[in-house]
Amino acid sequence: MAENKETIFVIVGASGDLTYRLLMPAIFRLHQMGQWLSPVVGYAPDAWDDNAFKEHVHTGLKEFVPSFDEKTWDTFSLLLSFQRGELAGKDFEGLSKAVGDGPAVFYLALPPSLFGTAAQGLADAKLNTALNGARRLVVEKPFGHDLASAETLRMQLHQGWQEEQIFRIDHFLGKETAQNLLVFRLTNRFLESIWDAEHIRSVQITYAETLGLEGRWRYYDQAGALRDMLQNHLMQLFTLVAMDPPATWAADSLHNHKTEVLRAVRPIEPSEVDQRAVRGQYLAGTVAEQAVPGYLQEPHIPAQSTTETFAALKLWVDNWRWHGVPFYLRSGKRLARDYAEVAIQLKEVPRGLFGEGHENWLIFRMKPDEAIDMVVWSKEPGLVLNTRRRILSTPYRRQEEMEYSAYEQLLLAVLQGDRTPFPRYDEVEEAWRIVDPVLQAWAHGRPHGYPAGSEGPSQQDQLMQSGIAWRHLLSNPSD
Ligand code: BG6
Repeated sequence: MAENKETIFVIVGASGDLTYRLLMPAIFRLHQMGQWLSPVVGYAPDAWDDNAFKEHVHTGLKEFVPSFDEKTWDTFSLLLSFQRGELAGKDFEGLSKAVGDGPAVFYLALPPSLFGTAAQGLADAKLNTALNGARRLVVEKPFGHDLASAETLRMQLHQGWQEEQIFRIDHFLGKETAQNLLVFRLTNRFLESIWDAEHIRSVQITYAETLGLEGRWRYYDQAGALRDMLQNHLMQLFTLVAMDPPATWAADSLHNHKTEVLRAVRPIEPSEVDQRAVRGQYLAGTVAEQAVPGYLQEPHIPAQSTTETFAALKLWVDNWRWHGVPFYLRSGKRLARDYAEVAIQLKEVPRGLFGEGHENWLIFRMKPDEAIDMVVWSKEPGLVLNTRRRILSTPYRRQEEMEYSAYEQLLLAVLQGDRTPFPRYDEVEEAWRIVDPVLQAWAHGRPHGYPAGSEGPSQQDQLMQSGIAWRHLLSNPSD
């Protein structure tokens, strides 16, 4: 479906890195594929005119869009214009004129500390309502630093904007595998009947990166892996696995069910943080055959920093469906391999007629490639009834199929006013509620060291219930 070309897309903070590296390339690609015809207004304090803005965008696109072509640029550049201004209400007057009274999206491509000011400024300039169409506000994670600051941010945004107008970007919800989790679960009859504590032994969600800080030390050293990856991205994947099916594919119905399962997560008591969470910090090591420094030796990182670059959590869901099933979430930087998956471990059959140890797994792999694997058992060919492990594997996409990035998916959804892939505030709040006690405990002490290029700190094994082990990052995907 092509988007509504009447909607004006305003990027507040149009001279920043996010716009340059991610937003503009995504919008350009959508235009290339015939999906984006909306005008894009860049808004920033820089002394630019339309042409200077276009030149800036042009340079970025050539660098960041491998499929860039000048012919598409010719039509794309006609969609672009620039408005200069700061973030107070009176500064937005020029923008008000440019936007008129039709539908518009305001994307805050700004540091989170400015979200409140910008949202208020836009509302003071009455850009939050229009006679002839919807007005939307887009913000991107982090949504606060902890439960209290998330609530402060919510209040600031809600002063001028209704919750229905706010689109919070968690880019994982634009990833194909995240979207497929519910589709696969809820279209295959055989899965729903085993999707519970009776049949599932554990769920393991892993997002392992070989990357280090990538120049983001200022943000990362304040954030750490729990805030950067688990509170939002991995918690969203968890929610999609654990939620009950909504009655309809309507945003509020979906969000109600997501919130409900988050509310069912058993609180982590301060006294049990060590049994429910493990943190690590990488030491010097070797990643992809390259020697890399430890976190504390990275440029700009304070020598005493206790920021975790690896975090793992064990969650219990106190409802009928999941009673007694541990959910494990982990993510880390400078690990052995770029590998990510949502792995569902099934219980063994009640009586092993052909031996023991016949575990089934259903694996939604996200990296290095997207695929669904099922680990099953069958008879080994031959004269005796031996069993052997087999993998039923299907790549997620066919080779010739188009790949849309998470940003492309989500920007189009914003334009179309589709709120399903954007977390509602109560989901964000519940996710903070879950991790807050861990953050508080981790304000003291130090993370465990792990060598760069390893599978993370060995202490992560202490989270495992008896008979359950982490899946290895280094073996073949479905081993
Ligand atoms: C971001 C985190 O939100 O997600 C990064 O801030 C992380 O630290 C990234 O590397 C991972 O997502 P992707 O899509 O780049 O694999």
